[in-house]
This record gives sequence, C-alpha cells and structure tokens, in this order.
Amino acid sequence: MNGWLMGPSRIFFRKWQTKLLPLASILAIAILLLVPLLFKLDGKPHADWQQFLGRFHVLAVHLPVTLILLVPLLEIGGRYRPALREAAVLALLFSVVACLGTFTLGYLLAYGSGTAGAGVTHHMWGGVWLTIGVLLCYLIRPSWESGRVPYAYPALLTCVLLVMVWTAHEGGSLTHGRNYLTEYAPAPLKKWPGLGRVQAKMKLVPGSFYAQNIDPIFDANCVECHGTAKTKGDLRLDAFNLLMDGGQDGAVIVPGHPERSILFQRITLPHGDKKAMPAEDKPPLKPEQITWIKAWIAQGASPSVPSLAGIAAPEAYKEIALPQVGDYSGMLAQISQIDASQGVKLVPVSRKLGDGLILNTVNVAAKFNDAQLAQFEKFAPYIVEVDLGRSKVSDKCFDALKNFTHLRSLNLEETAVTGQGLAKLTGLSQLTYVNLSGTKVTQANIAPLLAMRNLHHLYFYNTPAQAASTAHAASTPSSQQSPTRSSP
Ligand code: HEC
Repeated sequence: MNGWLMGPSRIFFRKWQTKLLPLASILAIAILLLVPLLFKLDGKPHADWQQFLGRFHVLAVHLPVTLILLVPLLEIGGRYRPALREAAVLALLFSVVACLGTFTLGYLLAYGSGTAGAGVTHHMWGGVWLTIGVLLCYLIRPSWESGRVPYAYPALLTCVLLVMVWTAHEGGSLTHGRNYLTEYAPAPLKKWPGLGRVQAKMKLVPGSFYAQNIDPIFDANCVECHGTAKTKGDLRLDAFNLLMDGGQDGAVIVPGHPERSILFQRITLPHGDKKAMPAEDKPPLKPEQITWIKAWIAQGASPSVPSLAGIAAPEAYKEIALPQVGDYSGMLAQISQIDASQGVKLVPVSRKLGDGLILNTVNVAAKFNDAQLAQFEKFAPYIVEVDLGRSKVSDKCFDALKNFTHLRSLNLEETAVTGQGLAKLTGLSQLTYVNLSGTKVTQANIAPLLAMRNLHHLYFYNTPAQAASTAHAASTPSSQQSPTRSSP
C-alpha cells in the first residue's frame, strides 16, 4: 500500500510507523487531556490574539468533518477499488491533523473570549474524544487490514462518527442556540421527546418570595427577550421551572451559590458590558433587586419559601388583594336614577364589580345632609369609599355610616361633625382612611379610632384635637395623632 514511497522516504516512513508514531500519539493524547485541566475555561476573557485566531475555528471546523465523513465512504469503496483504501488511510491521517488544528483554534476561541458553561464544556470534550478517536483509528487500521483484529476498527470508526455528530450539534447550539434546528419544525414533530423542549409552565406559589419579588423582576425586565415570543440564549424566565431548566450554557442558577450562577453574573456585570443583562443597553436592575436575587439564590432558590432571612421586601411589591363586595348589578337602574334626580354620584371603583362603589357628593355638597345619607343605606354593603367633604352632615351621619360594612375610606373634611358618636365606626374593620380635618373633633372623641388596627391614615389637621395633641406632643407619640397631611 505504500507504493508511492521510494528510497529514503520509505526508510523514514518505516521509522515513523514503528517508533515515532506511537510516541507522537501518546504525546498528543496526553496534551489533549491536559490542556483543559491546565488552562481552565473559567469564563474570563484572556488575550485578543487568541480570540482573533480562535474565530477561524468556526471556519476551519468544516475540514475535519468532511475528512472524517470521507473515511467510511472510501473504506466501502475500497472493497471494490483497492486504490481507494490508500486514500482512506490518507484521509484518516489528514483528519488527525485537521482535528488537532481545529481543536487548538477552538480552545483559543473559548479561552480567549472567556466562554464557559455546560454547552462549551460538552463541545470541548467532544473535540478531545473525537481527536483521540480518529488518532486511534489511524493507529489500529493496519491491524484491521492485515486481518489480525477484525472488528475494532469498524467499531471505533462508528463511535467516531457518533461523537462527531454530537460534538457538531453542541457546537452549533453554541453559535445558533439550542433550538435552532427545531425552532421551525412542524408542531407534531416538536412533541417528540428531545426535539422540542416540554415547556409547561409551573404555577407561582402564592405568597412565596419568588412569586412576590423575584418573578415580577424577571417579568418587567427580562421576559420580553426570555419568554415565549423570543427565547434569547435559549433561556426562559417566565416560570420557575423554565428558569431552572437554564439556557444554552446549561443551568443559570446554582442554588446556594449566587457567584457561580450565570444569571447572577450576568446581572452584575458593569453596565455597557456586552454580556450584561438586561441586554441592549436597557436600564440595569436596581441594587435592591440584585440584592433580593442574590439572597434568594444564596438561600436555596426555592419556589415556595415565603420569606428570606435578612430581606424585608417592601410593601409595594406585595400584592394587595382588595376585599370584594357583593353583586349589586341588580341595583344599577336605581343608582343611575339617584344620579339623575339628586346629582349624587355612585361610581364604580373599577371595571370589576367586586371592587365596589364610591359615594361622591362633591357636586351637591352644599345641600347634602344626614337624611339624604340615610337613603343610601340600601347600597351600604357595596360602598367602599364615601366623600362627604364640605357637606351639611352632622354627628348623626355615624348612625348611617356604621352600616357601611365595606367602607375603606371616609372623608368628612370641613363638616360640622364634632366626633360625638365616632365610636360607632369602630366596627368597620376595613376602614383605612378617615379625614376629619377642618372639623370640630376633639381629642376625646377621636380616641376610639386610634385603637382601630387597619386605620393607617387618620387626619385631623386644623381641629381642636390637633391643637390638643400638639400641646401634649410629648405624651402622645403615636404617629397617627400627628396630622400627616393637610386638607387636599
Ligand atoms: C433585549 C433582549 C434581552 C433582555 C431584555 C434580556 N436578555 Fe438575557 N439574553 C439576551 C440575549 C440575546 C442572550 C444570548 C446572548 C448572550 O448570551 O449574551 C441572553 C442571554 C442571557 C443569559 C445567558 C443564558 C445562557 O445559558 O448562556 C442569561 C443568564 C440572561 N440572558 C439573563 C437575563 C436576565 C436575568 C434578564 C433581565 C434582568 C435578561 N437576560 C434580559 C437578550 C436579553
């Protein structure tokens, strides 16, 4: 088979085959296995020249693929035309050289650019085993040809082809994203295991720290690129399970280790860094949001724990569910009639019926009195807000108001009330806001309200009660007693 070698070259070839080749092979295998351990892919970019050369990997990689594919074709053809067998040997030898060169460029690319993660690690080890496999094929082929070892070579060549397909796929996923091939596959095909990812979304656990604080951050800042419409980096952040599935580089969250979690690394890169998230110069996350994500990962990245040690989530991020009122849709005709005849407005808080009604007397304040208010008792269970500011109501109004069981907000500004009978309102457990500014309320009369747990906003600016509380400021430290807001 070595007919094309003559004279001194033939002598060199013998020496190469018997002495140098085994030595060179052992050395090459040792280097291939040692490089990933000596030059760890630590995610840090190194030199520009490495990246410059490394980028040719993407081009060069087609050469070994083509050469390796040629080998089985030539071997099959060699059954009929023996000359093709010699070509197969050459193709193998060139494959080894091409693999070594391409591996070197690929390693320069990953090391130089600071690429790290499961995807690049798979691709890299694929390259190592592929190169070693091709080399072993070259080494054992003579024994196969001489008939001494009949099966090892075909078996090894088959393995090499399988490893090559896998390695190429891992590499393709790095450049194009993991679902590049299947993205536009017909829907029935995508359901096949392994082709499309099963993307059922796990429901949020109500009341969990994740649902209340982490998910809303992703929702507002990330899901436009990491959701169903777009899935950049093959990462979805619109559900806990999809987040934990990770992206093109594998897991993005390592529970317990924020600094090892790709997601945390990406949101803490300096603004302007190409890899910083949110991408494309979108405003970075707020420091407190980064703190929460860090604490959440550090404390196990759980979808269900309600709170984290050391993190007090602000009120604004908690979902405040409004208590709902009953169905008043049967009374809509009466409501619009009152509006038409008396000019008193009963308006819905929102489009949701259950959010209730607002009683607003501002247009008729000069005439609106206790007797008129009493007429609204039939709507009382549906009214959540009552504005009686500057109207003619007196202390008698509390007799009617005590039946407004869903009342949350009450404005009695600049009315004639003195607060006599205010105690009747203490049964209104949902009441959070009462404005008594500009009335004649006294400190003794508002005292019962101070014990109401949900009444966070009590205003009595410009009243005898305020005068008294300023005089006794030292003895009345409760914040509720200081007028926090003047009349609007
Ligand atoms: C404008 C689009 C855009 C927005 C908004 C965005 N990303 Fe990305 N993200 C990308 C692109 C494109 C990639 C893939 C390229 C890359 O890795 O840089 C990516 C990749 C990632 C990766 C790496 C995935 C992997 O496996 O390599 C993480 C982690 C990530 N994004 C997190 C986030 C987080 C967290 C947010 C919100 C705070 C966010 N992204 C917002 C476009 C975006």
